This record gives sequence, structure tokens and C-alpha cells, in this order.
Amino acid sequence: MPNHPVHDVNLQAHQVNYPARKITSPDGKVNVLQITDLHLSMADINADHDLGCLDNYQHSFQAVLQQALSEDIRCDLIVVTGDLVNEVKPAIYDYIFEVLHATKIPFVCIAGNHDVTDETGHELPFEQWQLIAQPADKRLLSRHVIDTKYWQILLLDSAIPGKIAGKITLSDIDWLCQQLSNCDKPALLALHHHVLPMNSNWIDAHIADNTDMFWQRMAAFVQLRVVISGHTHQQQVRYRNGVTVYTTPSTCYQFKPYEDYFAVDKNARPGYRWLQLANNGQVASWVKRLDT
Ligand SMILES: [Fe+2]
Ligand SMILES: [Fe+2]
Repeated sequence: MPNHPVHDVNLQAHQVNYPARKITSPDGKVNVLQITDLHLSMADINADHDLGCLDNYQHSFQAVLQQALSEDIRCDLIVVTGDLVNEVKPAIYDYIFEVLHATKIPFVCIAGNHDVTDETGHELPFEQWQLIAQPADKRLLSRHVIDTKYWQILLLDSAIPGKIAGKITLSDIDWLCQQLSNCDKPALLALHHHVLPMNSNWIDAHIADNTDMFWQRMAAFVQLRVVISGHTHQQQVRYRNGVTVYTTPSTCYQFKPYEDYFAVDKNARPGYRWLQLANNGQVASWVKRLDT
């Protein structure tokens, strides 16, 4: 599937700003825009809807990107933390990469569960859903490093084909330890699945597996400052071992925080997160919602 010739053309074109490997900026600071959980389907892309209609996730994605990039802040890097699609179709990735490529801003994309699993049977009780494993689009990154003057940005693929929950494998943890042993710059880690509970039973059933081992092994590296993830469709902040852990709203629909059963938050707007990585290793971060 990913060997389709159209993809190869797109891959060549995208190499200009994808995947980001090194970020330089005039003041050394790196302003990161995190967007996550786009959940685009072919129906969104093909729909002939009014462009203001946020029920179409293509429109909400475009509106989020447009609002973020028109703000009075320089965007040095866009990090897309998974669930780019809601059905694994190459044409949807072609569209998303085209839009991101057109920004001319360096960007990176990692997989979420929906990028490696098609779900069917949503009309049935959850236990009867079918989870169909799919190969990840080859443009999605895993174990990727972005170097900046004062920071290192590390990306992991936590998605498991055929599953909703994720996993940080032992070899992922070994890779992280190796990166952090070789470089003592402050580090930001991005992955799709959350690594600390959200205090919401149904979402926490789909957390990244192996997080105890992850936190145990990360305790040796004081330079790990920030973890960002998607998957939870909500804004949260947690702290563990000196690490600030952020989750971020989706560009489409949001989940209600602290609910033990699945609940969509109809009042919460699509959103995105800024992270400002300062030269002294400090980080400032905030979430913005789509203007009404
Ligand atoms: Fe999602
Ligand atoms: Fe997810």
C-alpha cells in the first residue's frame, strides 16, 4: 500500500520540511505547535460542506491550523501526535501532508491507534467492536530525533496494530535511555498515548502499557523535562519525577475529563497547544481553543 507511486512523488516533495531533523531559530528558542487527533475520514475530505462546519473534521483541522499560524508567535515546528485518520486510507495522509507541507514549517507526524487500527461495529456494545490491524503509513515516524541548539525533541510510536491501548516497549525505553545518555540537552518526548492516568476509567483503560518501567528508567535522566501526548482529547497537566506531562485537545471532538464512562464534551471547542522551549531549559505551554 505505501509503495503506490503517488506516495513516492509526495514523499520527495515533503522532504523539504518533512521530517524535521534540526530546528534553528534566530533567538535559539523553539516554539512548538502541537496538533493532535485529527481523525479525518474520506467522507470529511469528499464532503461538500460549508467550510465553517466543524462537524466536518477536515474543516476543524484547517481552522485550527489557520488560527494557530495566524497568531502573533513564530512557529518553528509542528508536531502531530497521532490519530491523523479515522480510517487507514493513503489518500487521507496525502491530503494531510499536502496541507502541512504547504505551511513551509518543519513538521513531524507519529502514529496513534487509529493510524494502525480500523474500528468497525461502533453501533454495537464496545466488547463487540472489531479492531482490524493495519500497517502504518510509512511517512509516520518512530524513534525520531530533532536537534535544536538548546533542546532535543524525541518521538516515539506507541501505537499497536489492532489495539486501542498503546505500549512503550522495552526496546523503545532502551532507545530513549541511549539518546538521553548521549545528549544532556533538555528533552521533550512526544508520543500518542498518555503516560500518566487521566483519572477517567475508560480512557485509562487505553493508556500506554509499560509506563511503570518507563518512569523507573527515566528517573535517571534529569534532563527529561516534558512529555506531550494526544489520545485523551482533553487538556491536562500532570507532574512526575520533575517531568511536566501535557495532554492536548483534539482538532475535532473532545472527551469529558474525569468521566468513568465514555463521554463526549459537546461544549469543548477544538484546540491545540503551544510549547515554548526556552534557552535555559524552561518550558512555557498553553492551550488555545478555536475562536467561536
Ligand atoms: Fe484520538
Ligand atoms: Fe488515540
